[in-house]
Amino acid sequence: MKILQIDSSIMGEQSFSKKLGNAIVDKIIAKYPDSPVEKLDVVESNIPHFSLETLQAMFTPDEHITDEIKQKLNLSDKLIKQLFDADILVIGAPLINRTIHSSLKSWIDHITRRGVTFGYTQEGKPIGFVKDKKVYVAMSSGGIYTDEQGKANDFVAPYLESFLGFLGMTDLTVFRVEGVHIPVVQDTALQRAIDSIIID
Ligand SMILES: Cc1cc2nc3c(=O)[nH]c(=O)nc-3n(C[C@H](O)[C@H](O)[C@H](O)COP(=O)(O)O)c2cc1C
Repeated sequence: MKILQIDSSIMGEQSFSKKLGNAIVDKIIAKYPDSPVEKLDVVESNIPHFSLETLQAMFTPDEHITDEIKQKLNLSDKLIKQLFDADILVIGAPLINRTIHSSLKSWIDHITRRGVTFGYTQEGKPIGFVKDKKVYVAMSSGGIYTDEQGKANDFVAPYLESFLGFLGMTDLTVFRVEGVHIPVVQDTALQRAIDSIIID
């Protein structure tokens, strides 16, 4: 099983989502020994914001693709190849102002390419081409978003489930380090998240 581990924390080695992601990877390897792990830190990689130039390059018909346009698609090509090569994705998703970090959003923008990772049927129904992947999301948050009060503001898990599903990655499981800013739960939050990991 080829694992692609994506991190999007700005906290370096202190990061809870990274620690949880590492624990998920360890448990995957315990189940599938010798699985290779490729790492992509989308913060350190400085994936640029999506731009008009990239958009136009993506929509250039094959017969009009020049070397210059090819170059503009290099990053998207590389990220998409890395994605297609993986069997299992482990995505670290810290909660930043109630959503994902912008670096993870940039990764999503560069892997979303019509005719490559998604398309539409004649009837206009979307089809995702990124099939046969298992996705584990390692979330971390200062607050709690799984109780009755928090659920109304839980945007990260539904967004990732919806959008990665649109690209074909419909088998997604979320594990959470919750409440790292809440004194009564912060000391045990990481261990509880690690204990909750089940690799199916
Ligand atoms: C700029 C910033 C914004 C944040 N916004 C939220 C938020 O909206 N809700 C929340 O519960 N926690 C929020 N947090 C807390 C983080 O989710 C928490 O520190 C988490 O552990 C970050 O993940 P990491 O440790 O993997 O970097 C925020 C933290 C930072 C630095």
